[in-house]
Amino acid sequence: MPIIHIYDTTLRDGEQTPGVHFGPRQKLDIARRLSKTGVDIIEAGFPASSPGDMEAVKTVAEASGRGELGSTVVSALARMLKEDIDAAAEALADARVRRLHIFIATSDIHLRNKLRISRDECLARIRTCTAYGKSLGAFDEIEFSAEDATRSDFDFLCEAVQAAVGEGAGIVNVPDTVGYTTPAEFQEILIRLRGRVPGDWRLSVHCHNDLGMATANSLAAAECGAEQIECTVNGLGERAGNAAMEEIVMALKVRRDAIRCGGEELTCGIVTQEITETSRLVASLSGVPVQPNKAVVGQNAFAHAAGIHQHGVMAARGTYEIMNPEDLGLNANTIVLGKLSGRHAFADRVAQMGYSLDAAGIDAAFARFKEVADRKAVLTDDDVRAIVGEYLDSLEGKYYLDTFQIQSGNHIRAMALVSLSAKDTAAPGKEPVIVTEAAPGEGPIDAAFNAVNRIAGADGGAAGGTAESRVELISYGITAVTEGTDALGEARVKIADRENGTVFTGRGVSTDIIKASIKAYLGAINKWEKMKN
Ligand code: KIV
Ligand code: ZN
Repeated sequence: MPIIHIYDTTLRDGEQTPGVHFGPRQKLDIARRLSKTGVDIIEAGFPASSPGDMEAVKTVAEASGRGELGSTVVSALARMLKEDIDAAAEALADARVRRLHIFIATSDIHLRNKLRISRDECLARIRTCTAYGKSLGAFDEIEFSAEDATRSDFDFLCEAVQAAVGEGAGIVNVPDTVGYTTPAEFQEILIRLRGRVPGDWRLSVHCHNDLGMATANSLAAAECGAEQIECTVNGLGERAGNAAMEEIVMALKVRRDAIRCGGEELTCGIVTQEITETSRLVASLSGVPVQPNKAVVGQNAFAHAAGIHQHGVMAARGTYEIMNPEDLGLNANTIVLGKLSGRHAFADRVAQMGYSLDAAGIDAAFARFKEVADRKAVLTDDDVRAIVGEYLDSLEGKYYLDTFQIQSGNHIRAMALVSLSAKDTAAPGKEPVIVTEAAPGEGPIDAAFNAVNRIAGADGGAAGGTAESRVELISYGITAVTEGTDALGEARVKIADRENGTVFTGRGVSTDIIKASIKAYLGAINKWEKMKN
């Protein structure tokens, strides 16, 4: 039975989702969870892109070296540049199995406009850099990606792949970088490519979802011999994202009768019961919630609203459900946490969910948990995730909410008075100071955000708040984490720096929605502040 290797790029392409940033701690938690879920390869990052990512990839590689990721291969991305390859070698040094993933664009539109090199120069770089990667002896496997392969001239794509294979690349990835191809067209490209480039190389695909075809294209590739599928949890990734791991895996499982290669059933090593927990951890640590109607892992994936559907499911689940919720690990946890739960039970559940908090982290999150439990009889996993997620977002921040007072009504302009505790980030030992500002706004939330802007110097420096602020609020939303009037409200905020467009996200939880909103805004402002420095 052919095996499909699952190459998870949540920590690399997934991190390219606007507003998403994974530090070493988040990457490590997600990597451990991915390994438990059974992915074959984890693309941990792009070490040459920043010192922070170098550190994050090293952290994952070290965990692999300590045996914490089992036999999962750790991969690092590099451009066709010696410096990038050296950086990947340094970052992966401690991993048990080290994969170099080198890429270069092969389409004329990329060669001409982005790289400004000729096809010959592109081939020369592929040869030199693949050979260099091989010569270092620092990698166990080399994967070559022809970026924008599906829009590349086919003959040139073959030459590029031949060049990489000739210098020792054992895995050839064919990315549909801009989500352009269709299942039938993709199959034709892959079959012809296989036929044209001889040798012992493994075929991989990497599909983006711009036209909503990433999963279909990936599965079509598996049907014609692709042995590796690159994907991300929840379909995170550039623009419309990548093929979603959970969709690919469940389609292979549920439709094993139909999705076959050469008449044979296809299989992969994913432990499907871990999928839901993994999806939720990634949503929590990325700050990108899963859309409710998302296939497989959305909140509504097993919800039946219409009476006729409810009746059918009650009579026989198979009438409207094609997947078994237990196969996705739904309803696996039966422990209910509440006011009387102790620190130990709380810490246990947090660890099971995949978060690794140190003792101080558990203390801080547990204190928040107790505060909420005083107002809410039962806390669900979603509540715990919201509490831990907010705690993690607040780490290393300069500003913390101290107090706020807001006046608003239908006949007066809203006015907020906000006090923040501000740390001196240059002198970490120094006691924080309380800074207070008042600001008007179009409603209580706007007024509170304006007051925070004034404290953080994001208001453009104008008295009266008339000048354009230095950050722009690009999205704001509040959702109830669970049902009921005592529900925790989770606010999510996205702001962008007006000068360079960088996006920062923040989230805050509270049973008071204004408090949740201010905390979320502070989360984003703290990240903006960090970038400035
Ligand atoms: O989409 C793409 O082409 C990529 C490559 C780096 C594999 O992410
Ligand atoms: Zn990609």
